[in-house]
Amino acid sequence: MALRRILHYPDPLLRQVSQPVAEIDDEIRELARDMAETMYAAPGVGLAAPQVGVLKRLIVLDCARQDEAPQLMTAVNPEILEGAGEINEEEGCLSVPSYYARVVRQPEVRVRFLNLDGAVVEMNAEGLLAVAFQHEIDHLNGVLFVDHLSSLKKSLFKKKYKKILEQKQEEL
Ligand code: NI
Repeated sequence: MALRRILHYPDPLLRQVSQPVAEIDDEIRELARDMAETMYAAPGVGLAAPQVGVLKRLIVLDCARQDEAPQLMTAVNPEILEGAGEINEEEGCLSVPSYYARVVRQPEVRVRFLNLDGAVVEMNAEGLLAVAFQHEIDHLNGVLFVDHLSSLKKSLFKKKYKKILEQKQEEL
């Protein structure tokens, strides 16, 4: 297992559309393990393969609360079949460090994906897990959570993020 480097906005790889996984082989299983390790180390509740520079449709999630046992989910070629409702919760992203903003999402979604054994899984996700699926699947389509902000908030984000990046430079 190995930690992978997480790409940060505005890395152009984060804007690419990822390709479906054709076969779940050792390379995909190793990538999934590395992504889980990288997510837990960050720490974060979700990570998509393009965030570590691999343009494949693979995500890992763990939305268990701190008082619960870990619930790692690995989803290959995930898709949202349907969704309902509307919530507006604060989100962050490991590829957009130190920035958080409210995003409108659906609190209930039905998702379909392959697990690492190649079995088709269909399940309902609610709350944080539903939001995480939407956020991570967005990554597979080159979309970041800040893309969902209004144009005013987006320009505020760009100004603030520029400062965040400058501060990070000084820390190095
Ligand atoms: Ni993200």
